[in-house]
Amino acid sequence: MKDSIAVIGVGVIGGAIINSLLKSGYEGKVTAAEIQLEKVRELEKLGIAVTSDNRKAAKESDVVFLCVKPNVLKTVLKEIRKEVEGKLVVSTAAAVTVGFCKRVVPKARFVRIMPNVAILVQESFTAYCCDDDVTKEDREKIKEVLDVMGRSMEIEERYMDAVTAVSGSGPGYLSVIVEALTYAGLKVGLPRDLALISAAQAVLGTAKLVLETGQSAAQIRDSVTTPGGTTVEAIYEVEGSGIRQALMRAVEAATKKSEKIRKQWE
Ligand SMILES: NC(=O)c1ccc[n+]([C@@H]2O[C@H](COP(=O)([O-])OP(=O)(O)OC[C@H]3O[C@@H](n4cnc5c(N)ncnc54)[C@H](OP(=O)(O)O)[C@@H]3O)[C@@H](O)[C@H]2O)c1
Repeated sequence: MKDSIAVIGVGVIGGAIINSLLKSGYEGKVTAAEIQLEKVRELEKLGIAVTSDNRKAAKESDVVFLCVKPNVLKTVLKEIRKEVEGKLVVSTAAAVTVGFCKRVVPKARFVRIMPNVAILVQESFTAYCCDDDVTKEDREKIKEVLDVMGRSMEIEERYMDAVTAVSGSGPGYLSVIVEALTYAGLKVGLPRDLALISAAQAVLGTAKLVLETGQSAAQIRDSVTTPGGTTVEAIYEVEGSGIRQALMRAVEAATKKSEKIRKQWE
């Protein structure tokens, strides 16, 4: 895709989207629109057009990414309503449905995405859903752009709260695990940097094994569990800790919270 893209709101997610586009050598024009222009001045040197005028950015672009906080989204949508009519608009706002966006700008085509913070290193899982007016060509375009930021998958909007809980918040729970594993390394005498890289790379490698070899997590666990060996000693302790139930409860709680916030928006 070579369409011109505007990114409105250049914080964590907007900045990561622009960074991913830059790293991928994206050929179309990219405009960064940010309320405080000085925050995006550096991007100009990298070939990004910058402005503090959201309407101008939307007017001059084919696809508009909205990367502002959910409480600002409606204001920005109203502001750029005329400029995005007939265009593809991608909302990153958690818990705000495509129906909500569509009610503010009925004539735009909306895609709602749920990335996670690993978008900063192009390893996000980005689930997305589309309103009924989004075309096949729009879907192809958006998948191409989102895949630059990691992996993406179109889903039904009814799964968004649960995906928010598993994947959007996932780096939060996994950070707890990486931290705990690092401390476990310290407990058995590893130097701090060695403990950290052992723990973090083990998590990264396991994820890659699941995603790239097609093995299930259970198959990977079995393959490293030698009878009478070290791993089975550790697994015995892990299974007794209730970690599976804790993660299920955590995700259930986050899903319920996401549903509650979404209903407040609706
Ligand atoms: N962070 C995550 O892990 C994550 C994950 C999934 C989805 N999301 C969603 O992504 C969206 C962005 O989140 P974020 O974490 O990137 O937020 P953020 O870091 O606060 O970025 C938002 C940016 O928008 C700017 N802004 C505020 N009002 C604006 C306006 N009227 N016009 C243009 N720019 C404006 C803000 O500037 P000021 O700072 O000066 O106000 C800030 O730079 C949210 O809707 C969130 O729900 C975030």
